[in-house]
Amino acid sequence: MKLEPFGIPLNLTEIQALAGAQAGVNKLSQVRGYFADPLEVSRILQHADPIIYEFTALRKYDENAGLSLGITVIYPGKVGDEFYMTKGHFHARSHDGDEVYYIREGNGRLLLLSHAEQVKVLEMSAGSILYIPAGWGHRTVNVGQDKLVFLSVWPSSTEYDYQSIVDNGGFPRRIVERDNKILAVDNQNYRGSKIS
Ligand code: PA5
Ligand code: MN
Repeated sequence: MKLEPFGIPLNLTEIQALAGAQAGVNKLSQVRGYFADPLEVSRILQHADPIIYEFTALRKYDENAGLSLGITVIYPGKVGDEFYMTKGHFHARSHDGDEVYYIREGNGRLLLLSHAEQVKVLEMSAGSILYIPAGWGHRTVNVGQDKLVFLSVWPSSTEYDYQSIVDNGGFPRRIVERDNKILAVDNQNYRGSKIS
C-alpha cells in the first residue's frame, strides 16, 4: 500500500480512520497462553473476556523501503499478579530492522531479550522514547492504573517471529505486582534458546 501524507493526533481512533489502517483487538481468550496462571485465566473467562490490548497499524506491504507505524493501547489490569501485556515478538530475519517507540500515555515496562539471551527491562512513561535494536525480542507491559498508549515505527520490510516467544515459554522475566511493588521476576516457564 502506498501511504498518503498525513498528520493526526496520537490515538487509536484517529489512526483507525485512515485509509488502509489494520485494527486488531486481543481479548484474554486469544492471548490466554501468554499468562502464567491458567487457573486465574479460566476464572476470569467464566464471567468476562476483557480486551488486553489493541493495535492498529499502517503497513507498506509492497515496498522494501520506507516505514510502517502503529499505535498500541494496552488496558490496565492483571491476570492474578501479572500485568496485562502484548504477545511480544522478534523481528524475524537478521537483516530486519530496528524499531522506535514513543510513549503517549501511561506507565509500562519494555521487556527485551537478545539472541544471546541477554535480558533488559526498560521503563515506559508518557513522553519517553525507546529504541529497540534489531535482534532484540520485545514485549510491552502496562503497569499503571490507566491505558498505556504508544506509537511504534519500524521498517516496512520487517517480518515478525511470534513463534520463538511461544516456543521459549515467553520471556525470561514476568512483570508482576507483589506487596504493592512492581517487580520483574523470573519466569518459571521460560525454556530459552529456541530463537529461530
Ligand atoms: O512492532 C512492534 O513492536 C509493536 O508495534 C507491536 O507489534 C505492538 O505493540 C503489538 O504487540 P505484538 O505485535 O507483540 O502483539
Ligand atoms: Mn516490533
